Amino acid sequence: MPIYLDNAATTRLDDEVIEAMLPYMREHFGNPSSIHSYGRITRSAIEKARKTIAALLNASPSEIFFTSGGTEANNMAIVRSVSAYNLTHAISSPTEHHAVLHTLEALADSGQIKLSLVNVDEQGKVDLGHLEELLSSNPRSLVSLMHANNEIGTRIPLREVAGLVKKHDGIFHSDTVQTMGHYRFDLQDIPIDFINCAAHKFHGPKGVGFIYIRSGNKINPLIYGGAQERNMRGGTENLYGIVGLAKAMEVAYRDLEEHEKHIRGLKSFMINRLQETIPGVTFNGDTSDESLYTVLNVCFPPAESGDMLLFNLDISGIAASGGSACSSGTDIGSHVLKALNPKNERPNIRFSFSKYNTQDEISFTIARLQELFQPAAEHA
Ligand SMILES: Cc1ncc(COP(=O)(O)O)c(C=O)c1O
Repeated sequence: MPIYLDNAATTRLDDEVIEAMLPYMREHFGNPSSIHSYGRITRSAIEKARKTIAALLNASPSEIFFTSGGTEANNMAIVRSVSAYNLTHAISSPTEHHAVLHTLEALADSGQIKLSLVNVDEQGKVDLGHLEELLSSNPRSLVSLMHANNEIGTRIPLREVAGLVKKHDGIFHSDTVQTMGHYRFDLQDIPIDFINCAAHKFHGPKGVGFIYIRSGNKINPLIYGGAQERNMRGGTENLYGIVGLAKAMEVAYRDLEEHEKHIRGLKSFMINRLQETIPGVTFNGDTSDESLYTVLNVCFPPAESGDMLLFNLDISGIAASGGSACSSGTDIGSHVLKALNPKNERPNIRFSFSKYNTQDEISFTIARLQELFQPAAEHA
């Protein structure tokens, strides 16, 4: 059986999610904008999904807008808040996902904003003192800082950062794609303007997600068209995607503590076993309990290249990733690992876990890695 340890790239669909989606693929195919009974059934499924999601986040259904996933939601929050509030300055970090960084860079290149990047330390942790300095000299900035990094698992203290941004009259967006479904959010408690979600990161379908827009924030759509999503996102809704997204959220939050415990166990088992079996192994990013429990980024001794290591794991049936899946197939390397340590040329592999992984799978992976890193003499 192949071993899938690339769950930060995407996850397997949960059977409960598939079951929830099937009726909307088979029988209930009406366009939710149609006023006849076919449309009324699918419209009500979408509104039920919105209510389910809002309740899980302690938000109002009117604050949830369905999108094609995390990238679209990031683009919408950034591009449309800059224009809605005439913002001229944005603060982000060098370790953001490209869905945030490239959007901000495009706005900076076209002269709409000046972009400042906050310092991060060697674990990718945001320097909150530097953030406060940037905010003090640029009040009313857009701040976009991801809740947890998809490559190294380092997290920001969301409430503290939101408090700082609000103290300086800023707009706060956080890319929560890697934490949605894995951490609880109480949006009444955190003064954050925009967050987002991609269902496929927690056993939901691909190509669907949402943007949360705190009420009172009046921004324009990113995609113009029909009146869908209360005029905020044109285009016929991804009906079964939305139904699957809500089911995936429901299941994720229903079973969160049990799965978190299981996955944390796998991660600490892997950390300990790697340290015991492969001399010189270190870890990129934060590996403390505060880090994203689904991600472990391992820095191996310089025996072979990262690509060869991934290839060798792949032919043993183990799927992992060399940083962000979104840039695999290119030889650019990880901008995140470069921001942490530009001189790091050792092979780096991201292992990311889900509720479906087992300790046996981790043991098998460690055994395979151990073989790959045996000193040459032992091979002879
Ligand atoms: C942190 C982060 N933001 C955004 C995205 C993009 O999400 P999507 O592929 O659903 O557009 C990803 C996916 O890899 C991610 O990890």
